[in-house]
Amino acid sequence: MSSRVSSKAGASTRKVRNEVVQSNRTVRQKKDKAPLLRPFFSYYGGKWRDALRLYPEPKFTTIVEPFAGSAGYSLRHHHGRKVILWERDPTLVRVWRFLIKAKRRDILAIPDLEPGQSVDDMKGVGPEARLLVGFWLNRGAASPRKSPSRWMRDLIRPGSFWGERVRQTIANQVDLIRDWEIHEGDYTECSVQTEATWFVDPPYEQAGQYYRYGADQLDYKALAEWCRKRPGQVIVCENAGADWLPFSDPQEVKTTRAARRSKEVHCILENGVVSVSQPASPTEA
Ligand SMILES: C[S@@+](CC[C@H](N)C(=O)[O-])C[C@H]1O[C@@H](n2cnc3c(N)ncnc32)[C@H](O)[C@@H]1O
Repeated sequence: MSSRVSSKAGASTRKVRNEVVQSNRTVRQKKDKAPLLRPFFSYYGGKWRDALRLYPEPKFTTIVEPFAGSAGYSLRHHHGRKVILWERDPTLVRVWRFLIKAKRRDILAIPDLEPGQSVDDMKGVGPEARLLVGFWLNRGAASPRKSPSRWMRDLIRPGSFWGERVRQTIANQVDLIRDWEIHEGDYTECSVQTEATWFVDPPYEQAGQYYRYGADQLDYKALAEWCRKRPGQVIVCENAGADWLPFSDPQEVKTTRAARRSKEVHCILENGVVSVSQPASPTEA
């Protein structure tokens, strides 16, 4: 091969490589500009904090969370994607319906709680808004409270409880979830048939008894079958020790109760076939 030909080939390889680098950069730049969604409410077992660190990115443009809770994975990956949530607990469904419809001014109109007040004392505030506030009276609870927790009363980390900062954050975000869907029902009623990224985060078999609809009401063998039948990418979360799917990748993560640590594991299926664990996104926003 003459040196002219090989230098031509080298130039074309460089051109292709530059184009790939350029297109990766464009995707990253688009993502960087995507508005970061913070949790709309604090929830027991919420995955927002760990979503980028522990789980792979969605491969599909639709994300389905059949065990929605506070939808931590969807919040992290919503940009440019359709989000469909399914949840059995009607209280959570009411909060999500409220948020999806709420206007910025509706959120800004929800007042602070005065010392000694409970959400029942909030004049002119609708029942769904009271539930939302109730989730912000404690950290990581499985249901809304009526009155502030000791943590909130002691004014430790005021930005983590209902108040001006949280109100502004939610008000700034509600427009971004306008096209999200929330459905009330058992995960088996989920009617999505198309390929999607399914983020399946049920109450853990051993530790998920704190929910209104908890582990004791789930048949994990049937859930495993259901997961294997979903079309697309299925990310299933559990705690170390669970064996209803071939879970792997134990990692130590902090739970919402600071002192305790739990071991998260997951199983990734692609059209029913167990896939090698893909790397999680390298950075956390
Ligand atoms: C571990 S939490 C999900 C946490 C969520 N990934 C987040 O980021 O907040 C599990 C959720 O599944 C709901 N759930 C329990 N049983 C269910 C069922 N059979 N169908 C649908 N949702 C269910 C619970 O009410 C709870 O909100």
